[in-house]
Amino acid sequence: EQTLRDVADERGVSLGAAIDPDTLRRNPSYWKTASSEFNLLTPENALKMGPLRPSRHTYDFRDADAVVEFGENHDATIRGHTLVWHNQKPDWFQAWEYTPEQLRAFLRDHIHTVVGRYHGRIDAWDVVNEAVADDGSMRRTVWSDALGEEYLADAFRWAREIDPDVDLYYNDYGADEVNEKSDAIYDLLERLLARDVPIDGVGLQLHALGDWPDPDSIAENVRRFQDLGLEVEITEMDVAYHRGEAPSNPLEVQAEYYRDVVDACLEAGCETIVTWGVGDGNSWLRGFKDFGERYTGDPLLFDDRYEPKPAYHAVKDTL
Ligand code: XIL
Repeated sequence: EQTLRDVADERGVSLGAAIDPDTLRRNPSYWKTASSEFNLLTPENALKMGPLRPSRHTYDFRDADAVVEFGENHDATIRGHTLVWHNQKPDWFQAWEYTPEQLRAFLRDHIHTVVGRYHGRIDAWDVVNEAVADDGSMRRTVWSDALGEEYLADAFRWAREIDPDVDLYYNDYGADEVNEKSDAIYDLLERLLARDVPIDGVGLQLHALGDWPDPDSIAENVRRFQDLGLEVEITEMDVAYHRGEAPSNPLEVQAEYYRDVVDACLEAGCETIVTWGVGDGNSWLRGFKDFGERYTGDPLLFDDRYEPKPAYHAVKDTL
């Protein structure tokens, strides 16, 4: 029987999963599912600044390399996630009393070093992650506080400088449908593009947590970003219910939603869909903050034992 990956390959669609290197080393079922069912992989955490930067002047690429090499060994394309974010910064960052010039030099070096290292091996980078707040205003972060909005343009330019070929993405959550936040991101990217900032695409995370974005509205959103000249990818999909609100046939309803989203996305010309993990047992929803209390924890295509779920078959049949 064909795997999901076989079908995705045939259709020219990229079907991806976020990967954790430790689980890859430990768990043969995870290893096998990751390599045979997906044709795109992205390190779930290993390329973030925290894991990569044990100290201000050093890098630790071991985990990131492990995921990238695993992907290469299995002919998967790799998404890089992520260069500039307000979360998962190194612990030492807290105590660092930097000047804006120092912070800017640090970020430039970080982007040059990390993007440069994976030149020709990573196909797309989430250069900036979650820079817009939920109400559409610019999120206040260490980056915006010290460097102003201009850090956005700089980050994309530094990435482009070191790798002329890689696709550069702006990535965010809660902006999957046409809404206040995606309107703001649209305006932001339009402004940056008008200034020739090198942005190739926008990543819609699509964490469907309780409130599931409407597939028709996702399609409309995809199209308007494409009309700006941008590629659109679904970068972190998972589908959960508010605790206590799941229907009696949760896996079937979840499967329908996966199918409707993939359908809408492909129809609109978005041909990369990444799920945020491999099996439910690896989902970040199980361990992140109080998410386990707020949402049901079986959001992915495979269950805890890496058996395909109804959602798996729904996606496969839709491709
Ligand atoms: C999450 C990881 O899945 C967790 O393992 C980690 O503890 C926190 O970050 N948006 C993003 C991802 O862009 O990087 C986040 O990943 C999930 C939300």
